Amino acid sequence: MCKLIVSISLYWFAVIAVFAQDTSTVNDNSFCIIQEPVLKIFKYNFSSLSDSTKDIILPNAYLNETLRVQLCTPLKQKCNGTDGYGICLIKDKQEIGIGKSPPVVELDNGRILFMFTGTNCTLTDKYSVTITMKCNYKVENNSIPELLTHEKVCEYSLLWKTALACGPQTQQNCTVTNNGSHYDLSSLTNYTENYVIRTGNGNLPKIILNVCHNVIFGYKALCQIKSGACLQQNSSKVEYMNLGDVAEAPFFEDGKLKIKYKNGDVCRPNITTPDIQTTISFICDFEARDTRPEYIGGSEKCHYQIIWKTVAACSTESLRSHSAITAGRCTVTNPLTNFTYNLQSLMKKEHYATAQNGITYTFGVCKSPANMTCSLETGICSMKNGTSMGKYNTNLIWQEGGPYLNYTNGDFCENGQRHYTTIAFVCGAEGVSNEPFVMEQKPCQLSIHWNTDLVCEKRIKCVAIDDDEMNLSSLIKSSSNYVVKVNKTEFHINICRPLVPEPSLTCAHGSAVCKSTLNSSKKYINESLGFPKESPVLDANRDTVLRYVGGSPCPEDPTTLISSNFTFPCNIYSDKGFPEFKDYKDCTYIFEWKTSITCGAAMGTWISPCIIQDHLSHECDLSPLYKSQPIYHVKNKQGKDYSVNICGGGTFCNGSAVCQSNNGYGSLANVIFDYGRDVIKLQYSNGDKCVNTSYTSGVRFICVESVGIGEPKPLWESQCNVEFEWYTNVTCACKSSTQHLPTSVDADEGVKMFSPSYAGTIASIVLSVIALVAVLFYFLHLDWRTWLRSCWHPFSSRRSSGRVQYCRVNTTEEARLLLDVDPTHCQTDSDDDLLVA
Ligand SMILES: *[C@@H]1O[C@H](CO)[C@@H](O)[C@H](O)[C@H]1NC(C)=O
Ligand SMILES: *[C@@H]1O[C@H](CO)[C@@H](O)[C@H](O)[C@H]1NC(C)=O
Ligand SMILES: *[C@@H]1O[C@H](CO)[C@@H](O)[C@H](O)[C@H]1NC(C)=O
Ligand SMILES: *[C@@H]1O[C@H](CO)[C@@H](O)[C@H](O)[C@H]1NC(C)=O
Ligand SMILES: *[C@@H]1O[C@H](CO)[C@@H](O)[C@H](O)[C@H]1NC(C)=O
Ligand SMILES: *[C@@H]1O[C@H](CO)[C@@H](O)[C@H](O)[C@H]1NC(C)=O
Ligand SMILES: *[C@@H]1O[C@H](CO)[C@@H](O)[C@H](O)[C@H]1NC(C)=O
Ligand SMILES: *[C@@H]1O[C@H](CO)[C@@H](O)[C@H](O)[C@H]1NC(C)=O
Ligand SMILES: *[C@@H]1O[C@H](CO)[C@@H](O)[C@H](O)[C@H]1NC(C)=O
Ligand SMILES: *[C@@H]1O[C@H](CO)[C@@H](O)[C@H](O)[C@H]1NC(C)=O
Ligand SMILES: *[C@@H]1O[C@H](CO)[C@@H](O)[C@H](O)[C@H]1NC(C)=O
Ligand SMILES: *[C@@H]1O[C@H](CO)[C@@H](O)[C@H](O)[C@H]1NC(C)=O
Repeated sequence: MCKLIVSISLYWFAVIAVFAQDTSTVNDNSFCIIQEPVLKIFKYNFSSLSDSTKDIILPNAYLNETLRVQLCTPLKQKCNGTDGYGICLIKDKQEIGIGKSPPVVELDNGRILFMFTGTNCTLTDKYSVTITMKCNYKVENNSIPELLTHEKVCEYSLLWKTALACGPQTQQNCTVTNNGSHYDLSSLTNYTENYVIRTGNGNLPKIILNVCHNVIFGYKALCQIKSGACLQQNSSKVEYMNLGDVAEAPFFEDGKLKIKYKNGDVCRPNITTPDIQTTISFICDFEARDTRPEYIGGSEKCHYQIIWKTVAACSTESLRSHSAITAGRCTVTNPLTNFTYNLQSLMKKEHYATAQNGITYTFGVCKSPANMTCSLETGICSMKNGTSMGKYNTNLIWQEGGPYLNYTNGDFCENGQRHYTTIAFVCGAEGVSNEPFVMEQKPCQLSIHWNTDLVCEKRIKCVAIDDDEMNLSSLIKSSSNYVVKVNKTEFHINICRPLVPEPSLTCAHGSAVCKSTLNSSKKYINESLGFPKESPVLDANRDTVLRYVGGSPCPEDPTTLISSNFTFPCNIYSDKGFPEFKDYKDCTYIFEWKTSITCGAAMGTWISPCIIQDHLSHECDLSPLYKSQPIYHVKNKQGKDYSVNICGGGTFCNGSAVCQSNNGYGSLANVIFDYGRDVIKLQYSNGDKCVNTSYTSGVRFICVESVGIGEPKPLWESQCNVEFEWYTNVTCACKSSTQHLPTSVDADEGVKMFSPSYAGTIASIVLSVIALVAVLFYFLHLDWRTWLRSCWHPFSSRRSSGRVQYCRVNTTEEARLLLDVDPTHCQTDSDDDLLVA
């Protein structure tokens, strides 16, 4: 409890510089691991910012210059013919070494500088490059520096934002529920910059602050590592006082939304509170975007009081009604993002929707339909009997899942009530039907669901990006949902996108999972298990995890909203696979989805005459390719004639499988099973001489049952390389099935998986085969891993995992085409992703 008196922390202006010994120890990158010199409780480790396979390229289009950069090691490629540079300038096709490796590393008042010196720039000056490292918790390993504009010809400055420049992270939950209203302050959390409040006339003293997150430790912010707020004092020495640690979630007190940071430094004697604390009180203001906090006193009582007017302090519910009031003519603004939904283009004509029982409704969006028999001002009209189902209005209402219209005051229905109709607009999956759809018909209420790109603010990327990428996009459904049945419960599921609308699936529109349960009175109860708001991520086991949040209130704890959690472990025999319900706990539904999509790729082998074998020794015969036609002649667009013969062996074209006018395009180098992309690749190298190198080629087989044997088609060509794509049914058999799972996913098929359909004996045989395969897999896996190591991204923290990834397969179009030039130099960096992102 009690703190040492010394805990009022005095930090002298701290400067350390790390001078690397001498340039002969070229591979020594220890200068990239730096003990933080002020708190002395953690190290910065920038090692993984250097890529062992390629240099970082930084173009500056404005100045027609390019920089090649390596931080912790010398450049991989020589600069102007010389080794040992860390930074190379390319200008007018000339290379200049502007930074020799290693640099001088300096930590100065929390700022981290890498300072390089290069060759002569003018008669008196040498080139210099300063790289400033800046903390951004949201930028993972694969970051690249930005080139800042430079005024002096000889001096270059780069800014490199990365999580590696950050100290340990302390974060707290930023949501709270009060009287049934939900509050979320997380949009105020800043991952790269602190909020600063000046409390005096000058620059100091100042309060440095973050929300639900520790203060970003860095330049002129040398706060204690768990501090949520700290004070930099006005004195000759630079002194930081901890005003309280991040620990508790926001809470309500006297009707005010607050955050409290407690257990700061020791308070001056004679005061009842032993430790300094800070309270931030939030005030909801719908117009207050990008506002700053204000200090209002309390230092004398060791309890700092801060107030903050912000839209982030308004409840989700009040934001919704606020946007309803301010909604314009068929437009509404999302108060969280300021994005305006505009449906005016749907006003041009009337629309129709037919329910399952055959009744057609005609309606207008924000107006009356033109062709109707209902009373004046009707917005939606039953075409069967001319009943008004609601009067139109232009009041588009905002809601998390998408905006909606509520047409009320229709004709009388029962008990003196009047008909009303909601028309909900959703940004559905790509390719989903864009017709309005009658979701539910009740005696007095009608609900219509409409997928339209007009309300697509942002679809989440269905890809988990790390040092390799896991792409779940092919699991997105656009015509029907996945259905998992457990007892009397059905889970309707889509991946990364809202559900495809289905009658009586009445979960909040925009939901990605809807749980439908038959209750004791034979009625379906629908609960939303969350919305697709976050892209998938990789968990500690390197499995891909997709989480849906913000569903219906949780029955066990109505202050919490239901979420769901899908893990996608790799199983190369699952094809796309199918979801399985696993567990329900802490208001979270947990599903598991075994799939080959997350498997990455692995090396196979070739067995003469024409068989390929995967790493589990399953064989696949390619000879039908040969039997159907010994040599395939392929003409490219320019009329170049290739002959392709996969099984021909040495008798054809001097041992090459691909031949073009007497040039052999290489002998077999690799057989690659790319489970993620569902492609099998044969790579050929060391062909006949081509300019300074030799011809290489590749053929990729894509299983399509319906095309028969098929034939190769040129996919990509360069002077010395050609790649073919071959859609064929021959490789479909290569997915031998010990655990064959259905690829099509009808409700019924899905259910069958849960019931035993094999006789016991067969089951036990199958089980022992699986066990054998598992043992084999284990042993092979060991070998494999030694092989893998040579390919490993040297800084990847990947642990052994079920994934059969041998190296990152690049994503850019060019890389896709080149697809893994030669897997012995795997390209493991994904700077491209960052550049795109
Ligand atoms: C960059 O190159 C373009 C064309 O190559 C030229 O028009 C432009 O003036 C150059 N800019 C500078 C700053 O040299
Ligand atoms: C919100 O968007 C509108 C129009 O797009 C713009 O005029 C307004 O300045 C924005 N407000 C904020 C706080 O971003
Ligand atoms: C108007 O509605 C009638 C049915 O009420 C329909 O037969 C007719 O095609 C509609 N006319 C137009 C122009 O949509
Ligand atoms: C007209 O049809 C609607 C359904 O389309 C129904 O709810 C309503 O009761 C019907 N009204 C009359 C008067 O039949
Ligand atoms: C639509 O209006 C009706 C009648 O006022 C109301 O009962 C219903 O809750 C509203 N629905 C929504 C989703 O706002
Ligand atoms: C993910 O896969 C889909 C097709 O399944 C493709 O269109 C998309 O470009 C891929 N995304 C990435 C980032 O690779
Ligand atoms: C399904 O029913 C069984 C037996 O009644 C029960 O043990 C199990 O928990 C139920 N599963 C779910 C998901 O409700
Ligand atoms: C924060 O707490 C709420 C309720 O206790 C919970 O529903 C939510 O998932 C938590 N959020 C995070 C990011 O942990
Ligand atoms: C999802 O569920 C798995 C399995 O229970 C768990 O390990 C993981 O932490 C969960 N992920 C998230 C983001 O909640
Ligand atoms: C086979 O290789 C030899 C020399 O290695 C060459 O002279 C001959 O032209 C090649 N034949 C074909 C068909 O490419
Ligand atoms: C592939 O197609 C060919 C021709 O249509 C057919 O003869 C062969 O049986 C098929 N093979 C497989 C494995 O389906
Ligand atoms: C620094 O990071 C690299 C790559 O992430 C890791 O291999 C190495 O062990 C780390 N070194 C220290 C001292 O933490």
